[in-house]
Amino acid sequence: MNVHDTPGKAATLSYAGKEPQLPVRSGTLGPDVIDVGRLYRETDCFTYDPGFTSTANCSSRITYIDGDAGVLLYRGYPIDELSDQSNFLETCYLLLYGELPNASEFKEFEQTITRHTMVHEQMTRFFTGFRRDAHPMAIMVGIVGALSAFYHDSTDINDPKQRMIASHRMIAKMPTIAAMAFKYSVGQPFIYPRNDLDYSSNFLQMCFAVPCEPYRIDPVLTKALDRIFILHADHEQNASTSTVRLAGSSGANPFACIAAGIACLWGPAHGGANEAALDMLEEIGTVDRIPEYIKRAKDKDDPFRLMGFGHRVYKNYDPRAKVMQETCHEVLDNLGVKNEPLLQVAMELERIALEDEYFIEKKLYPNVDFYSGITLRAMGFPTSMFTVLFAVARTVGWIAQWKEMIEDPEQRIGRPRQLYIGPDKRSFVELGQR
Ligand code: CMC
Repeated sequence: MNVHDTPGKAATLSYAGKEPQLPVRSGTLGPDVIDVGRLYRETDCFTYDPGFTSTANCSSRITYIDGDAGVLLYRGYPIDELSDQSNFLETCYLLLYGELPNASEFKEFEQTITRHTMVHEQMTRFFTGFRRDAHPMAIMVGIVGALSAFYHDSTDINDPKQRMIASHRMIAKMPTIAAMAFKYSVGQPFIYPRNDLDYSSNFLQMCFAVPCEPYRIDPVLTKALDRIFILHADHEQNASTSTVRLAGSSGANPFACIAAGIACLWGPAHGGANEAALDMLEEIGTVDRIPEYIKRAKDKDDPFRLMGFGHRVYKNYDPRAKVMQETCHEVLDNLGVKNEPLLQVAMELERIALEDEYFIEKKLYPNVDFYSGITLRAMGFPTSMFTVLFAVARTVGWIAQWKEMIEDPEQRIGRPRQLYIGPDKRSFVELGQR
C-alpha cells in the first residue's frame, strides 16, 4: 500500500529554533494526518501521546469509524446494512479480501472455511490440562497460542499462500476452540463441528448439543448470533487489533499474534466490558436503585463507571449498540422472556443517563456491550463466555489487519519511544555501603 503526501499540504512545527515542514497525508475519509516520521531526525524530539488519542499508527483500507457522527463502515459498507442484509461469513470474506464475494466466490470460501473447522485431535489433551473452573478466556489464550505448534505448514509469514491458509484456519477453528472451552467448563463432552451447517448454527450446536439427544437449532437465535458476530468483526485500530499488529510487526507467526490479541481483549475496558455490564445490571437489580449508581458513576472519588457506556472514539450513539438493542428485543421475544428485569433496568438506565448533564457533556452513550450481555445470557451463554464470543467474531478483523500490515511495504517493527523520567546516570554502590 502506498500512501503519498498530499501535494500543497504541510504542517510547520516550530521548536528550538528549527522549523521542519511536516508532510500531511489525506485518506479517503476522516481527518488528515501529520506525518511526524522525520521529526526526531530533524529536531531531536519525539511526539508524546499516551493512549494514542491523536496518533494514527498505520494506514488501512479495512474499517472506517466517524465517532462524532456514529458511523462504522467495513470496506465502505455501513454496519447496519451488513448486519441486516449480509451474513457473518460473507462479512469475513469482505474484510479479508476487500470486496463482497459473488455467488461462486462465496461458495468456495464457505467450503474452505468448513474444511478447516476441526482441530487436531491431540489438542483435546490441552483442554484437560486446565482446571474445570478456569476462565474460558484463559483457555483461549493458551490454546490459540498453541495452534502454532500444530500447524507448522502455515507459520511462514513471508509466503502469501501460508498466510491465507493460516487466516482460513483461524476463522474456521476459533468457534470450535471456543465451544470446546465452554463444554470443558460445564463438564460435557466436546461436540464435533458439523460441516452441513452455517457458521453460526454450527457454533450453537457445538456449544449446546449433547450426544444423548437431538439439538434443534433455533433460526432466530442463529440470526441473532450471526448479527452479533458481524457487529464485532472489526473496529479499526482498537487495543487488541493494535496488539495484534504490534506483535506481528516483529515477524511473529499469526497464531501467536492472535493469542496476544485475545489476551488484550480480555480486559474490562475492552472486550471484557460486556461481562462487566451484565454484572453491573445484576448488581443494580431494580429500577429504583438506578439513581444511586448514576450518582456513583459521576463521583470523581468513586472508581465505579457505567459499564457499557462511553467509548474512546464514539462521541455519539455507537451504531452497533442500536442494532444490538434491536437484536436483544428479538431474542427475548422469541424466547418468550417477557419483562426480563435486567432489560427493564438497562432501558431505564439508558434513558436516565442520556438525559443527565454529566453524560451529555462528556458525550457518553451506550456502546455495543450495553445490550449484548442480556442477549447472550438469554441465548444460554454464561457471562464468562461473553468475551470469548467477542474473540470469535473479532478474529477475522485481527487477521485481516495482520495480513494488511504484513503486505504493507511501509511496514516496520513497531517500536514506540518514551519520555524518560527515571533517575539520572549514577554510579553503582557496593552492597555493604548502601
Ligand atoms: N461512566 C462514567 N464516567 C465515564 C465513563 C463511564 N462509563 N466513561 C468515561 N467516563 C468519564 C471519565 O471519568 C472521564 O471524565 P473526566 O474527563 O472528568 O476525567 C471522561 O468521561 C472521559 O473518559 P476517559 O476514561 O478519559 O475516556 P477513554 O476514551 O480513555 O475511555 C472507555 C473509554 C471505553 C475505556 C471508557 O468510556 C470506559 O471505561 N467505559 C466503560 C467500559 C466499557 O463499556 N468499555 C467498552 C468499550 S466498547 C467495546 C470495545 O471496544 O471493546
